[in-house]
Amino acid sequence: MTNTIRPQVDGPLMVEGDAEVFAADGISIKKDANMWLCRCGLSSKKPFCDGTHNKAGFSDAATVSTDYVIKKLEAGMPAANLRLTLRQDGPIHCFGDTSIVGQDGSAWNGNQANLCRCGQSKNKPFCDGSHIAAEFKS
Ligand code: FES
Repeated sequence: MTNTIRPQVDGPLMVEGDAEVFAADGISIKKDANMWLCRCGLSSKKPFCDGTHNKAGFSDAATVSTDYVIKKLEAGMPAANLRLTLRQDGPIHCFGDTSIVGQDGSAWNGNQANLCRCGQSKNKPFCDGSHIAAEFKS
C-alpha cells in the first residue's frame, strides 16, 4: 500500500496507508489506515485534528514544495511502513516511503521528512523550524 499524506486546504493532514503514530518517547499512539493529523497547532486532541482550525481561521493553500531537502534512508533499511513520530514541541517526523500530495497536484516523494504541526512554517507542509520562535508546546 502506498503511504500518502494530503494536506487539506486550511485544514489538517490526511494520512492514508500503513501508518502508525508514535509519541516522542516511542510509545505507539495509533495505528490506522486513515488518520487526520492537526497542522494548525491548536487542536485540543493533538496530534489529531478536532476541527479547531475552522474557528481559528487557519489558512494554507495545501500546496507541496518539491525542493524540500531530505535525508534518504540507507539502502536496505525497511521503509514500507510509515512511522509518524511526534517531536516534543516540534514537527512530525515521517519515516517510510511516502507521497505528500498537494491539492493542486504538486507532490513530493521520499522516505524522511519533518512536517509542520505548529501552523507557523513558511514552507508548509514541511517544518522550517518556526515552532521554536512560536514557542509551540506539545
Ligand atoms: S488542523 Fe484541524 S484542529 Fe488543527
